[in-house]
Amino acid sequence: MSGSNLLWVSTPIATPLRGTLRVPGDKSISHRAIMLAALAEGTSHIRGFLEGEDTRATARAFAQMGVRIDSPAPSERVVHGVGLHGLRAPQGDVDCGNAGTGMRLLTGLLAAQAFDCTLVGDASLSKRPMRRVIEPLARMGAHIDAQEGGLPPLRVHGAQALRGIDYTLPVASAQVKSAILLAGLYAEGETRVTEPHPTRDYTERMLSAFGWPIEFTPGRATLRGGHRLVATDVDVPADFSSAAFFLVAASVVPGSELRLTRVGMNPRRTGLLQALRLMGADIREENAGEQGGEPVADLLVRHAPLRGIEVPVELVPDMIDEFPALFIAAAAANGDTIVRGAAELRVKESDRLAAMSAGLRALGIAVDETPDGATIHGGRLGGGSIDSRGDHRIAMSFSIAGLIATGVVQIDDCANVATSFPGFADLANGCGFALTNVA
Ligand code: S3P
Repeated sequence: MSGSNLLWVSTPIATPLRGTLRVPGDKSISHRAIMLAALAEGTSHIRGFLEGEDTRATARAFAQMGVRIDSPAPSERVVHGVGLHGLRAPQGDVDCGNAGTGMRLLTGLLAAQAFDCTLVGDASLSKRPMRRVIEPLARMGAHIDAQEGGLPPLRVHGAQALRGIDYTLPVASAQVKSAILLAGLYAEGETRVTEPHPTRDYTERMLSAFGWPIEFTPGRATLRGGHRLVATDVDVPADFSSAAFFLVAASVVPGSELRLTRVGMNPRRTGLLQALRLMGADIREENAGEQGGEPVADLLVRHAPLRGIEVPVELVPDMIDEFPALFIAAAAANGDTIVRGAAELRVKESDRLAAMSAGLRALGIAVDETPDGATIHGGRLGGGSIDSRGDHRIAMSFSIAGLIATGVVQIDDCANVATSFPGFADLANGCGFALTNVA
């Protein structure tokens, strides 16, 4: 699907959103589950696996490197691990599709293999910065060639002896942290990563679950090479980032009430919840529990009038993927919402600050864009045409705008929604959206 065009038409609705929804499995955890299960000794069963194009591309990459991965049912994978040194050279290039997580984590992991490998991606991924992983990995002894500007495709040269590193990340990035830790599994001595602000710790938690000794606290992780990964089962919770669209939609459509079940509530992911609550949102957590070692809860969201806020800068890394949805909440809010310290949004699947600012302006909302954020002046959304720039989260966010606009919102280039949220349009229409696909 990715690459092909798909136009969505989102029509204003007169009725509230209602229902109980289960959104698909967490993308970050699904990528990591395939990777660690592939490198483990024994067979791991993954449940709740995200059937998105990104995570399927990661599974395909390991199949290409000789790992048997069965799919006994949708959202299930049985991975027959080959051990830390059991991967084989792939035939041809490994295609990571649209997935920055897939490419950056694989770069770390492949840096220590005995074979060479070329990682390629789609048009969006081919514009994303890879120096942030290449530099620390090179300091560990890796040999990786990129295109001009540090862009993909990447040629990762095998048979390099890696040594541990004590590295302080210049930007808060779970992908860079994870790439270094995965290379560290193969390195001589200790690898330590320190972050300017704590980011999602799924790699650390999952390494521990697969039996690798690792010490970690928020903002720091330390491990040593030379152990083994032991197969374990992984039960993937629902993706908070996918739930986020419904949290915003129900907040802004009068009379709405939605229940989102068993949503992953890792505190490094739920910054949007805090931001929305500061804006006046009515979101309750119920049935708090644990799934696969992660906190989960049902989220009950009811419509509430929102007011503009200054988004606390310390929340930015904990809601890094949720800014497109936050921009829609801000547009619907009373007053101004100020975002700062979010320059990383410029190097996501698209330049999200530019894409959201341009899209909101096309719907009649005033936005002042800055290098690291924007001020969104809440107001009345009109109809109009949006270019999603092939970015799944931009497309889904503007489908929410369509619910409350005074006219129809057309969103171009939506095929990439399948990278993270297959079935979004059907699930959304099931609770009251009026979203039509135009091929
Ligand atoms: C991810 C980390 C974040 C996030 C991405 C998934 C991960 O990227 O935006 O969607 O799974 O580690 P950065 O590491 O670039 O911040």
